[in-house]
Amino acid sequence: MSTKQESNIAVSFYNIHNIITRGLRVSVESAQGVLQRGFQGERTREGFFNYVRSLSSVLNAHHLTEDDIAFPYFREKLPEAPFDDWTYWHGKMVEILDELNPAVEKCEKKDEFETKLRNIENALARLNEGWPYHIQPETDEFINKADALVPVEEQLRLVSLFAENVLKHAVPHYLTVPFMLYNLSVEDRRVFSLWIPAEMIQNLVPVVWKEKWVSMAPHLMT
Ligand SMILES: [Fe+2]
Ligand SMILES: [Fe+2]
Repeated sequence: MSTKQESNIAVSFYNIHNIITRGLRVSVESAQGVLQRGFQGERTREGFFNYVRSLSSVLNAHHLTEDDIAFPYFREKLPEAPFDDWTYWHGKMVEILDELNPAVEKCEKKDEFETKLRNIENALARLNEGWPYHIQPETDEFINKADALVPVEEQLRLVSLFAENVLKHAVPHYLTVPFMLYNLSVEDRRVFSLWIPAEMIQNLVPVVWKEKWVSMAPHLMT
C-alpha cells in the first residue's frame, strides 16, 4: 500500500540523487552520440535539449534545497558534517551550469552549433565526473545519519518541505516533473510520487503535459 510512512529523509535524498545520477549519465552519453552522429530527426533534437534543460534545473533545485533547508536544519545535530564544504561544491557546480545553460540556448538555436555542442558535452562530463565524489560523503556523513536524529512525524514534515522547495525551483514543471518521475525505477517512482501533487501525477503529467515532454521519452525509463 502506498503510504508516506514508508518514505523518510534518507529515501527522499536517495531518490533525488538517483534521478540526478542517471540524468547526468544519460545526458553525457546523449551529447556524445549527437557529436558523433548528429540528431536523428526534429523530435530527437527537441528531446535532447529538453532533457538536458530539465537536468540542469533539477540539479540546481536540489542544491538550493540542501543549502536553504536541509543543511541549516541538521547543522547542529551533525556538528562533524562538512556542510560548508558541500555548499562550496554546490557553488562550483553552479559555475558549470552557468556554462551549460547558455550553451544549450545557443546550440538549440543553431548559433555556433558545433562549438556549443562541444561546450555542452564538456560541461556535462565535468558534472558527471565530480558528482559521485559529492554525493558519497553527503550519503555517509549526513543522509545515512539523519534517520536516527529526527522522529518520524518530523521527517515527514521535512520531506514535504524538501519536495515543495524542489518544485519551487525546478521549472518548467511540464518538463522537470516527468524528468524526475521517469529517471526512477517503477518502485522508487511510486514512493517519490507520494510527494508530488496528485493533480500532476494523475492528470497533468500523463495527459495535459504529455505532448510537451514526450520528446524526452527515449531518454527516460518506462
Ligand atoms: Fe549536495
Ligand atoms: Fe545532495
